[in-house]
Amino acid sequence: MANICIFDAYGTLFDVMSAARMLANEKAYDKFSKYSEKVSNTWRIKQLEYTWLRNIMDDYLDFWQITKDGLDFALEESQIQNTQLRNRLLDLYWNLSAYSEARDVLIALKSNNIRTGILSNGSRDMLDSAVKSANLNDNLDVVLSIDKIKIYKPDPKVYQMVLDHFNCTKGDVLFISSNGWDISGASKFGFKTLWVNRNFNPQDRLNFKPWKIVNNLSAIPSIVKELNE
Ligand code: LAC
Repeated sequence: MANICIFDAYGTLFDVMSAARMLANEKAYDKFSKYSEKVSNTWRIKQLEYTWLRNIMDDYLDFWQITKDGLDFALEESQIQNTQLRNRLLDLYWNLSAYSEARDVLIALKSNNIRTGILSNGSRDMLDSAVKSANLNDNLDVVLSIDKIKIYKPDPKVYQMVLDHFNCTKGDVLFISSNGWDISGASKFGFKTLWVNRNFNPQDRLNFKPWKIVNNLSAIPSIVKELNE
């Protein structure tokens, strides 16, 4: 029985590449289109690396600062020095696009009496803004941010936040993420996990494998229904 579906935020419900893509579509920044993919990729990789490294070094900084640091590294790597462009990209990060199927999937889960939530490294205000701008509020029971405990995924204390919030057991939870390392962390913690592998990436060589793999979020309501029959 999995009557609680918990989603990772960035990369799973929200398209982290959409900020650079949206900027490249703005007339004033059309030259940026040449760099947008590289900047987006490095930005994301550095953002994640900094969360893991700061966990290990016991040197917490909130996710917004880490997001800015990751972007500054990425822009310097592509030799882009443009404060306006930097600030515009950061603004767009507060209103990332949700994947097109995300809202309908949450609605379908709620209509099947499944409780839904987000568990994310994102700071409280970043998450609130992204959820609101994607119009997902009404279909999420909770948005859990690690900024309450100041440690990033995949530390087990983060996954424990779900049990503490819902006062439930690990067996009640299906954890959904597009990040392979997040899936490993959640599987090791004891959650049933579903990996959203949009880009057909290879599996991480970590011990803990996903229970199921899908290419987008669409099949989740039927998978959960079947699981609970
Ligand atoms: C999150 C990042 C890891 O939302 O995607 O937690």
